[in-house]
Amino acid sequence: MKISVVGSGYVGLVSGACFASLGNQVTCVDIDEKKIALLKKGVLPIYEPGLEEIVKDNIKNGNLSFTTDLASAVKKTDVIFIAVGTPPRPNGEADLSYVEDVAQTIAKQINGYKVVVEKSTVPVQTGEWIEKTLRRYAKKGAQFDVASNPEFLREGSAVQDFMNPDRVVLGVSSKKAKEVLNDLYKPLKCPMVFTDIKSAEIIKHASNSFLAMKISFINAISRICELAGADVEQVANGMGLDRRIGKNFLNAGIGFGGFCFPKDLSAFIRISEKLGYDFQLLKAVENINEEQKRMFIRKIEEALWNINGKTIGILGLAFKPNTDDMRFAPSLDIIAALQEMGAKIKAYDPHSMEKAKEMIKGITYCEDSYSVCKKSDCLVILTEWNEFKDLDLEKVKKLLNQPAIVDGRNIYDPVKMKELNFRYFSIGRPY
Ligand code: UDX
Repeated sequence: MKISVVGSGYVGLVSGACFASLGNQVTCVDIDEKKIALLKKGVLPIYEPGLEEIVKDNIKNGNLSFTTDLASAVKKTDVIFIAVGTPPRPNGEADLSYVEDVAQTIAKQINGYKVVVEKSTVPVQTGEWIEKTLRRYAKKGAQFDVASNPEFLREGSAVQDFMNPDRVVLGVSSKKAKEVLNDLYKPLKCPMVFTDIKSAEIIKHASNSFLAMKISFINAISRICELAGADVEQVANGMGLDRRIGKNFLNAGIGFGGFCFPKDLSAFIRISEKLGYDFQLLKAVENINEEQKRMFIRKIEEALWNINGKTIGILGLAFKPNTDDMRFAPSLDIIAALQEMGAKIKAYDPHSMEKAKEMIKGITYCEDSYSVCKKSDCLVILTEWNEFKDLDLEKVKKLLNQPAIVDGRNIYDPVKMKELNFRYFSIGRPY
């Protein structure tokens, strides 16, 4: 099929590259000329395991191309995915102006039957707005259908998730659009859920909010465990074996971050409000997430007594491992609070430091984990990268001013840490 994907961010770029690797002719479009120039050479703006290879291979075999010219991409393709950003406004609502701009441009270029698919995460009823916009700006009699195809890929495993989804959700309003999208996704051999457009839009927000709720739930349980002297990992294991609950997303930590959960959650709360429903449950999910970061800072205080003037070594800045994404990373709030309290910060992250340097000023960026430890008063783990799990802890102990570790991701075994004579603080564990 001839496809264009508008917006070359995480979702657009991964989808475009993967559609190309399935044998389609894909044009990825973005307004950022620098980004497109680099992509044409196979240089990626993001770190995502496996993606560079697919992009390079498919540029080479002619299935994948990049352009800033949306109009000509629309003319020569039959299926157009809108995967532009929907950033949060100050009140939490999603800003849909990029979606509208793209819809207007697409409308003016419709030269035959097109399926226009919203892939960006958008509030329910956006499909209706896209349809109205296309109708308004397209020539009379233009042939098109709007569809909704929310994307569920996770950063860090995006290619794997795209190619092996639990399900593909397709919100359609015509048989023709259903057939086109069915053919496109058939090679993935996964369950396809066809719904109306509004239900597909809600499936995305409801799924992300549900997962965020699971994380806040286990974080709240971790507080109870700390107060009662129980172990949240044992509790999560015991709960997760019940198939109705499931083991995934029951890892207590420093709260969820990233560009999806925090923004989608507040957008969903705002949409619900607009529709006339006060989604108190999701407000509690947000509050618990904020509280989790404050509790973590209190743990660092517990380890150091006074934070003012102390040097704190931080391992991990990205919001989760295997990504260089720093957007809405819990590290941003935690480091800002520690700086405010007078701490000196040394930090290292295997992949996100370039992006971190633009967002976090006034800290020392180190070359590796051991340089972070050197003469720090305490070591703080914020992201569970594998290389932190494999550190030589005897060496870490020698390098630190005092053997104190505050672990926001529960990556070490508390019993072993005790044997090694660390003062070890983790989340929801009584040791
Ligand atoms: C999420 C959704 O999983 C994905 O379906 C959607 O398309 C985009 O948003 P992503 O933001 O890439 O994906 O990361 P995810 O792996 O879901 O983690 C989000 C945050 O939750 C991270 O900060 C992570 O550390 C945290 N998390 C996750 C926990 O604290 N505990 C868990 O058990 C799982």
